[in-house]
Amino acid sequence: MAKVQSSFFCQNCGAQSAKWVGKCTSCGQWNTYVEEVVHKDKEAGKSWKQEKKIRESKAILLDDVDYKVEDRIVTPDKEFNRVLGGGIVAGSVVLIGGEPGIGKSTLLLQIALNFTKGKVLYISGEESEGQVKMRAERIKSKGSTCYILTETVTQRMFRQIKEIEPDLLIIDSIQTLQSDYIDSTPGSISQIRECAGELLKYAKESGTPVFMIGHITKDGNIAGPKILEHMVDTVLQFEGDRNHIYRILRTTKNRFGSTSEIGIYEMQGSGLREVSNPSEILVSQREEQLSGIGISSAIEGQRPLLIETQALVSAAVYGNPQRTSNGYDTKRLNMLLAVLEKKVGLRMSMQDVFVNIAGGLRIEDPAIDLGVVAAMVSSFHDIPVNPQTCFIGEVGLSGEIRAVTRIDQRISEAIKLGYQTIYLSKYNTGIDKIKSDKCALVKVGKIDEALHFLFA
Ligand code: TYD
Ligand code: MG
Repeated sequence: MAKVQSSFFCQNCGAQSAKWVGKCTSCGQWNTYVEEVVHKDKEAGKSWKQEKKIRESKAILLDDVDYKVEDRIVTPDKEFNRVLGGGIVAGSVVLIGGEPGIGKSTLLLQIALNFTKGKVLYISGEESEGQVKMRAERIKSKGSTCYILTETVTQRMFRQIKEIEPDLLIIDSIQTLQSDYIDSTPGSISQIRECAGELLKYAKESGTPVFMIGHITKDGNIAGPKILEHMVDTVLQFEGDRNHIYRILRTTKNRFGSTSEIGIYEMQGSGLREVSNPSEILVSQREEQLSGIGISSAIEGQRPLLIETQALVSAAVYGNPQRTSNGYDTKRLNMLLAVLEKKVGLRMSMQDVFVNIAGGLRIEDPAIDLGVVAAMVSSFHDIPVNPQTCFIGEVGLSGEIRAVTRIDQRISEAIKLGYQTIYLSKYNTGIDKIKSDKCALVKVGKIDEALHFLFA
């Protein structure tokens, strides 16, 4: 009997070693090496065989390359199209990661059931046909041709693919797949790499888009080697607290579009509903005036969103004040507090500060700085900001309010939602053109000017 060959693989980055090591020399993680059998058939990597002749590789002039705008399949789901950069690109491979139970299978089944541009093959290695059918019953389908296959071995899977010739392939999930040509267990590094490689080859040669679901590890990364993320064209992250009703689909890598787009969904009894006007849900509607709330107009990807910042500033009991923020960069928060201390003279160093962006969003747009400052100062003085007020501006280190990009879009979103006063930087140009009979624009140059108007 031939000797069984095995090797050790880092479960974090996919590095290989002949013997076990405690610390991965490649990514520096501890205790990540696991032994895997590496018997590899010479057929490995050839599960998907295209009959047509493979084109010869030959260098050509860049000027002679035929260029056509990528073919995109536009799905009925507008949020999904937006996140992908305008629709599904033919032959692209998209990886969707997210915590268990967040709704990855629901999202992709919904895409499959509403797909109108041809046949869809949904391959599930996690659930039986009955379970998928049960889920499909809950989601209202627009009547598409969706095939379901429960299979984990890629060779048998490709036989079905050749028979059905789908226009969209969905794999739930890559960690359950297994190639007969590799001896290690499903979910191991070498299996994931092999199966993803086979699917990639299939997508590129047949021009069929492939979506795969990927599990994530404890610390939130997609399980399996980083190489998986390098192989695919697009990586989407489906996130949101499991108890929250809202789910956010975010791009972390996209070869065919911007990575700053987000899609927002609401999980309902009958599947995921697109939230096409997020500002209305992100800003809580309330009657009474509360202190510690500031509304900002932010831009996420291509669209403006109104963001509600909630802040609580209270006297620190211990010598070391706490600074906690959810959805906002803590370093930036510390910077704003230092500016308030030094330039406005508020004794923030004696205060515990908690900042939260409502709705579970994470905002990186610096234009919400002024809104965060307004929320904190409002809580500090315990004086509410007028709820019809919106803030747009980045705060600089010397306390100046800096100009921000795409100011007209931000202002029109605020006006659309009925805000009557908008604070913005006086350095922003082009705002004179904006018709503002319904709304007053207050131009401020420094943070203390703004606070004087608000709390004097
Ligand atoms: P699921 O898609 O199975 O998550 P994942 O594949 O990411 O593990 O998500 C299932 C969750 O969503 C489960 O808690 C039930 C809930 N759900 C609804 O609330 N409404 C629905 O219509 C469906 C299909 C699921
Ligand atoms: Mg699932």
